[in-house]
Amino acid sequence: MTDHAPPSSPDRTSIAEAVVSIESDGLARLESAPRLATLREIERDVLGKRSELARLHTRLGQLPSDERREVGALINAARDRLQSRADALAASFESQERRSRIEAERLDLTEFMSGPLAAPLDAIGRGRGHLNLVTETRTRLEDTFVAMGFAVAEGPEAETDWYNFEALNMPPAHPARGMWDTLYLRLDPPGTVLLRTHTSPVQIRLMESQKPPIYAVMPGRCYRRDTPDARHLPVFHQIEGLVVDRGITFGNLAGTIEAFTTSFFGPGMHSRLRPSYFPFTEPSAEFEVTCPICAGAGCRTCSGSGWIELGGCGMVDPNVFAAVGIDSETYSGFAFGFGIDRLAQVLVGLPDMRALLDNDVRFLAQF
Ligand code: PHE
Repeated sequence: MTDHAPPSSPDRTSIAEAVVSIESDGLARLESAPRLATLREIERDVLGKRSELARLHTRLGQLPSDERREVGALINAARDRLQSRADALAASFESQERRSRIEAERLDLTEFMSGPLAAPLDAIGRGRGHLNLVTETRTRLEDTFVAMGFAVAEGPEAETDWYNFEALNMPPAHPARGMWDTLYLRLDPPGTVLLRTHTSPVQIRLMESQKPPIYAVMPGRCYRRDTPDARHLPVFHQIEGLVVDRGITFGNLAGTIEAFTTSFFGPGMHSRLRPSYFPFTEPSAEFEVTCPICAGAGCRTCSGSGWIELGGCGMVDPNVFAAVGIDSETYSGFAFGFGIDRLAQVLVGLPDMRALLDNDVRFLAQF
């Protein structure tokens, strides 16, 4: 025995040299991966069971036992370095891919622009916003009625008890007030100011402010103490119609509803009236239109009947004329009203109305 280390065997030298070149080669290949999937393949090649590195292990048996340990440690150290580089590269690809996914799903909330900047923005493909489905429906309704000779009028959303109830033939404590779950404003005296439960108070304002003949529609926002669900929103929209003139009959009402139905929904679409009750009209009716989804054949939307109920209507009650000082011996009239949101829901086949208020651009952009 000498105190010199024994000379390395030729096998030890060749395996040790192979480790160095396999490591530097493997490192270069890992670094060259352009994306995660490629990296994973290279990682399998370089570090997997069939890799050159794994094959080196099988050659360890050729070495004398003292060299076997030393060379084994060399191989393991190279493997650890390659593995930790592969892990680091994978982590950076993953976060990069997460970032580009978020970027791809990003919502462009840029405000609508007009003026000199709008054109260059359009040119680079930035989409412009558009009106909400409910507003689009309201505009189409207004256009239809204007084409039929109606004027468009509006009224306030905060109303007094007089306009929302009393002038509409519902004196205080009248049981019919229970048809509307009312939101009152905290103003003195209590119970006198409310958020209008329908657009009918605008009828009263019109008749107070102008003399017949009146041919007007009155769209607007209404409020009821309803819990939101698939078919109810506590804030919703109605459109009201009012005609007051000499010699207006129930036949004119039915004919107007029918003309509106055909012109708004298209040829082949019709209307029908069914007896109903409203305090401010007498007689009163509910009006139904051919189901726009199945064109009357019967489907889930219309529960197989071929008709959907749109709203209420009737001849203006003489007590309402009395409240606004119109002589019901000289004039007669009719009124109708229906929900715009509900109509929009039926037209686009929307299962849940609450989507109209969620403001999810991915939903809204469909219309
Ligand atoms: N205002 C009634 C409602 O909200 C609808 C209606 C309007 C009925 C006009 C008759 C005449 O239910």
